[in-house]
Order: sequence, then C-alpha cells, then structure tokens
Amino acid sequence: MNPKIAIIAGSKRSGSHNKRLAMEAARLLGKTDVKLTLLDLADYPMPIYDGDDEAERGIHENGMRLAERIARQDGLLIVSPEYNSSVPPILKNAIDWASRVRRIEGRPVQPFKGLVVALASISPGQGGGMKGLEAWRPIMRSVGAEVITTQCAVPHAGQAFDEEGALADDAMRLRFDAMLESLIDVSRSLARTHDQF
Ligand SMILES: Cc1cc2nc3c(=O)[nH]c(=O)nc-3n(C[C@H](O)[C@H](O)[C@H](O)COP(=O)(O)O)c2cc1C
Repeated sequence: MNPKIAIIAGSKRSGSHNKRLAMEAARLLGKTDVKLTLLDLADYPMPIYDGDDEAERGIHENGMRLAERIARQDGLLIVSPEYNSSVPPILKNAIDWASRVRRIEGRPVQPFKGLVVALASISPGQGGGMKGLEAWRPIMRSVGAEVITTQCAVPHAGQAFDEEGALADDAMRLRFDAMLESLIDVSRSLARTHDQF
C-alpha cells in the first residue's frame, strides 16, 4: 500500500530555511510511491488558542481543516525551526487547535493517534535546531503520534544547500535520506488502515 505522508514546515516566512528543507523532502519523497501532501501554515491562519474562544465559537475552522488533512495521513514530516531552544509558536498553536478536534463529519476522530511523525530542522546556528526537535518529541507523543527515532538537524543554513537545492554535505544528505526512508517504512507498516472518517 502506498503510504500517505504530509510535510509541514514550522515557518511560513518567505525565504524560510525550513520551508526550503521541506521542499527538498518533497522532491525526494516525490520519487517514491508515497502519496504526498504539502501543508503550508500560510493556508491555516489561526488565533492563539484560548479556551473561551473554543467554548464560544468552537474549534477554529482552520484548526478543523488542518486536523482533517492530518487525520487522512499515515505519516507526517515536521520541518521546524528552533525558537529559544524549543518549538516555534505558529506550529505549536496549529497543533494545539488541531488536537482539540474529536469529531469530523460526525465521526469520532483523533487526528494524531497512530500518526507516524519524523522530525527535521535547519538553523543558521551550529546546533541545527536539535533542541527544538527534542522539544517536539513529547508534544507529538502526547497527542498520540509515533515519533520515529531518526531525525535530522541541519546546521549552518546559509551553506546547507547546493545549487540544485539538495543538501550539500554528504553525511547530512545520507542522514536526511535515511530519515525519509524510515518515515516511509514505518508509515507503511503502521498505516492507519482505514480512513478514520
Ligand atoms: C524568537 C527566535 C528564537 C530563536 N531561537 C533559536 C534557537 O534557540 N536556536 C537556533 O538555532 N536558532 C534560533 N533562532 C534562529 C532561527 O533558527 C532562524 O531565524 C531560522 O532561520 C528560522 O527558521 P526559518 O528560516 O525556517 O524561518 C531563533 C529565531 C527567533 C526569531
């Protein structure tokens, strides 16, 4: 079965290094049998989560839309910047909203339950955003995702890509490929066999 995998970057900034890395992942996954979905946070603007908002108006429509897209996937690649040794609020907020979704089209759904998640990051600094990835792990586990062990933090963003947009460093490129391979394999073997809704 062809695994369904989405990619989301934790930045919507024009010129985002993480979006660029996400596009490189899309290029590589595009060569496989994966059914690929690209998610762009620019398409899902949401206010900061507030319980009163939810109580008065329900889950924000873009939180619902995002949850619906994610619920249809077997796997998700998060390509996220590190902000102050942790996760960027724009993506954390989107996931917070989506995690509130319990029903879609009248059927019970847990959008992240059993979803296979891989983590990557890129940063101008020499840590590559590694601490951000470590912060993502418990967050994604707490919403029910299976986070794979192999991850990839790419340092020195300004020099990280070659002219074709591939990762310039051989070791980093191998690591990135290995992470994608693992995401594909685990997503295939743990495929959420039926649509949840
Ligand atoms: C509020 C803030 C905090 C940041 N903290 C970190 C950090 O802890 N570690 C790091 O490597 N880079 C940090 N950076 C730099 C980001 O990695 C850099 O801006 C990166 O380009 C953001 O990702 P993007 O290019 O995908 O938008 C921070 C940037 C901002 C705006």
